[in-house]
Amino acid sequence: MTKTRKRLYIKTYGCQMNVYDSERMRDVLTPLGYEPAEEPDHADLVILNTCHIREKAAEKVYSELGRLRPLKEAKADEGGMTIAVAGCVAQAEGAEIMKRAPVVDLVVGPQTYHKLPELIAHAHRERGEALDTEFEVEDKFDRLGNDRQVDGYTAFVTVQEGCDKFCTFCVVPYTRGAEWSRPVDQIVAEVRALAAQGVREVTLLGQNVNAYHGEAPAGREAEGTWGLGQLVRHLALIGGIERIRFTTSHPRDMDEDLIQAFADTPKLMPYFHLPVQAGSDKILKAMNRQHTADEYVAIIERLRAARPDIAISGDMIVGFPGETDEDFEATLDLVRQVNYASCFSFKYSRRPGTPGAAMFNQIDESVKSERLAVLQDVLTQQQIAFNEGQIGKTLPVLFEKSGRLPGQLHGRSPYLQSVHVEGPEHLIGQIGEVVIETASRNALSGRLVNPEQDAA
Ligand code: 5AD
Ligand code: SF4
Repeated sequence: MTKTRKRLYIKTYGCQMNVYDSERMRDVLTPLGYEPAEEPDHADLVILNTCHIREKAAEKVYSELGRLRPLKEAKADEGGMTIAVAGCVAQAEGAEIMKRAPVVDLVVGPQTYHKLPELIAHAHRERGEALDTEFEVEDKFDRLGNDRQVDGYTAFVTVQEGCDKFCTFCVVPYTRGAEWSRPVDQIVAEVRALAAQGVREVTLLGQNVNAYHGEAPAGREAEGTWGLGQLVRHLALIGGIERIRFTTSHPRDMDEDLIQAFADTPKLMPYFHLPVQAGSDKILKAMNRQHTADEYVAIIERLRAARPDIAISGDMIVGFPGETDEDFEATLDLVRQVNYASCFSFKYSRRPGTPGAAMFNQIDESVKSERLAVLQDVLTQQQIAFNEGQIGKTLPVLFEKSGRLPGQLHGRSPYLQSVHVEGPEHLIGQIGEVVIETASRNALSGRLVNPEQDAA
């Protein structure tokens, strides 16, 4: 294969799974001579890795395509620019995109991006045919292999994809397909390869990550499948890996073994993202969440009993169809009961093709906005209180890079808070103990317990 240097620009929208997918697309294209570019100008290949979870996703893609058009035209004389749309909007509206935006050369769904080299070659031959949005997740991971180029000390690893829960507001079961888990061996090989490149922290990704049930190392017939707790304990044995996280979990899939893993695996960070979406049982039912508010709180209590220093983050939706003031109050009550370290909150967005979109009792935008403001106020106060609660504590911090000021390091606490300290650069890539001195809404600062700490 002749290799000419080509420039690749990937724009990533949405969740961490898309961040992972973008990295893997880059890995697939590196052998073809593509090198990452910071800007789309002059790029030979531009990929928009799109998200469909909330409103205006498709519109955002079309307006970005509008911005790319003159860049593509300007490059017509210097070899041209190939434009690809990937991710969940591609999955949901692939054919429509090809039709509406002639600037697009190819469309690739989340389960077929390992075929990008073929699709690009095809698009260069004849425009209009390069569309692949099949669901063949197994094939994807087999073909991707473990060759990953990472820079930095933290990495995402997809362990599970897809979702069979069909919450009535959500497009994921339609864009990412049915639930599927990668075999344990494949994940272990990928994490080992990451550790060999210096990665210290892995975040295991899945739309329903705690439903993980991957083929055991001895094979499905001999040993069946492993749950997430078993997988986490096993990954904790890999040399160099100091921290493990996973996201996103569903309350229905919380088993005792996973709760125990928080108790018996110190490398599993005491910070857990468990979305509940609403606090009213009526709304939870309409959302098809398949659990009550009390059941959710009971899980949080079990987690706190297993790991007293655990902090919880969540996701909330306001203004789901039929939500009354009383239902919204129930959400506020639940938030007060749980006391989140951090929580994302969204106005319900009517997603075409989901059952929620067809419900007749939609809520006015103005009501949604009011409720969101009230909820976010409470959540912000909780986040500030949580951060301020760290003052005086000593936290292990993974230093990721230099800080903005000279002599400063930037790192992350077990709770993913940004932490700034004065310290020597050789600590980057290591974990150091930091006494927390100040806290704001988004960051902590403090001093190193042992500034003489040697590089590992
Ligand atoms: N409207 C608003 N928020 C949504 N989410 C998913 N679908 C919708 C929607 N239709 C939120 C949920 C989910 C997070 C990833 O996005 O809170 O947990
Ligand atoms: Fe969407 Fe519900 Fe599946 Fe989460 S569990 S991905 S919210 S359908």
